[in-house]
Amino acid sequence: MLENAPAFLDNEGSLRASHGEEFPALMEPDPVAISTERARRGLEEAIAALEDLVSVAGGQKKALHAYLKELRTVYQGLGGGDSSPQRYAQLARTLRDRRLALRMSLEALGKRIGVSASTLKQIERGVRPPSRKTLLLLQNAVELELNLEGFLAQPASAPIAGSSLNCYIAPGYEPVKMVMELSETLNGPGGYLEQTSAYLEHQSALQYLRMANDPTYVSAFRTGFSLEKVAQVICDHSRGTGIEMIALGAGDAREEVRLVQNIVARMELPDLRLYLLDISQPLLSEGFKHAADVLCNQRGVSYFAMQANFHHMDRYPQLHYTPERSHRRRVVTMLGRTIGNLDNEQKFFKYNLIGCHPGDFLVMDFQLAYASASDPDAVRRCDPLLRDEKPRGHKAREEWLGSAIWRHCRDVADVKFHYELLTHCSVPGSYSIEMVATVMGRNRELRRFSLFRFRRYDSILLADCLGTLGWDLVEQNPRSFPTGGGDNMMIFRKSRKQ
Ligand SMILES: C[S@@+](CC[C@H](N)C(=O)[O-])C[C@H]1O[C@@H](n2cnc3c(N)ncnc32)[C@H](O)[C@@H]1O
Repeated sequence: MLENAPAFLDNEGSLRASHGEEFPALMEPDPVAISTERARRGLEEAIAALEDLVSVAGGQKKALHAYLKELRTVYQGLGGGDSSPQRYAQLARTLRDRRLALRMSLEALGKRIGVSASTLKQIERGVRPPSRKTLLLLQNAVELELNLEGFLAQPASAPIAGSSLNCYIAPGYEPVKMVMELSETLNGPGGYLEQTSAYLEHQSALQYLRMANDPTYVSAFRTGFSLEKVAQVICDHSRGTGIEMIALGAGDAREEVRLVQNIVARMELPDLRLYLLDISQPLLSEGFKHAADVLCNQRGVSYFAMQANFHHMDRYPQLHYTPERSHRRRVVTMLGRTIGNLDNEQKFFKYNLIGCHPGDFLVMDFQLAYASASDPDAVRRCDPLLRDEKPRGHKAREEWLGSAIWRHCRDVADVKFHYELLTHCSVPGSYSIEMVATVMGRNRELRRFSLFRFRRYDSILLADCLGTLGWDLVEQNPRSFPTGGGDNMMIFRKSRKQ
């Protein structure tokens, strides 16, 4: 930590103090360069579409050619197609020579790569330079042995994948202090651990990852939500605007990155920045690596890692700041049922998402109640965590949540775990099941620690509750488990500022 000042980690791993208080995404873009690049991309699309149209249209060819000429002029004026005319002339000659050497007709080559013979003819005659799309198709014809390097290079203003600064250490992020506090609590007379502590240490993060990537856990909890549907709703409502996706508690970011892929696939001109925010350094690194592996070649997408505490969102104005005339939409996600582990969800959404503006989205998933929270006996009869002697996944939870006890508690001889029901929770209709550890010392004294909690909700009452905080339900995707119970993924939209 550099005295609590924001610090950025570049790809070479060197840490340096930031200039002022800016977050990379906010200090990096030059609005003129961004708009120019967007305009260029739009023109490339338009030119490619018109070229296709010219090859299929009947009587309007003359007019279409005139439009194409104008578009190319504008495109070149914006710095697109920066290769010189001489280089294009050379390419045209080489293309013709190689095609003839291979004894291929224009039609045969056109059919082979999916470009009309007339387009190829014009390129060979130097009447017009090939579009980026045609260049990519020509590249597929390896037998032509064309050297298209330089023609296909990204415009200078486009960021090179992964080369920009990408990691932010938030002010007040002090993992060592948090671990010391955890140790203090575990060596006290007993007590309560907020869920953050379950991910702080490397060993705990590793146990969590093991559990979360176990095939049984994956098939039961992690996959299956229709992220296509979520992406569609977001794109339908944000109508072509750029997206700032703030992934709270992103962990290994598997679902978050899938959501990004689904959104980007629906954007005509991809324009999305993904901020992975997590308290756990190992989980965040894992998530960032995954995002980089999947998204590094995705045009129009950038990604950043933030080592930060989602309970302190009010301290990160960089994520709330919206420049005047910004048309970008925030999509705040909280996936992996994290909402159900919080102490007080109402407080969390009221005070942590203060920077959200009308039109921004909130996406979260959660587990449904097995019975009404007002009937504790029915809950005990129906909810597997309370009903079953050895509920599914118990062993993995024991290893994950119990590992800190063995590491920190002095003189521990034995640990036993059980689950307790709490029905007075912050969101109406919800109940909470706490995982409690009873620690026996060598002198046989007993201490109890509440390690973690799993909350179950009534969808209607949860949506009502968020409605009172200015978040309107837009869409939901409830699922039933074959073994009873179920879960839900909800998309909310901010209707007003609190
Ligand atoms: C239940 S996991 C969900 C992970 C991931 N989103 C998924 O869908 O699998 C909760 C995540 O929230 C992170 N987390 C917990 N408390 C946090 C806090 N106070 N601030 C930031 N991240 C936190 C954890 O490190 C963990 O990665």
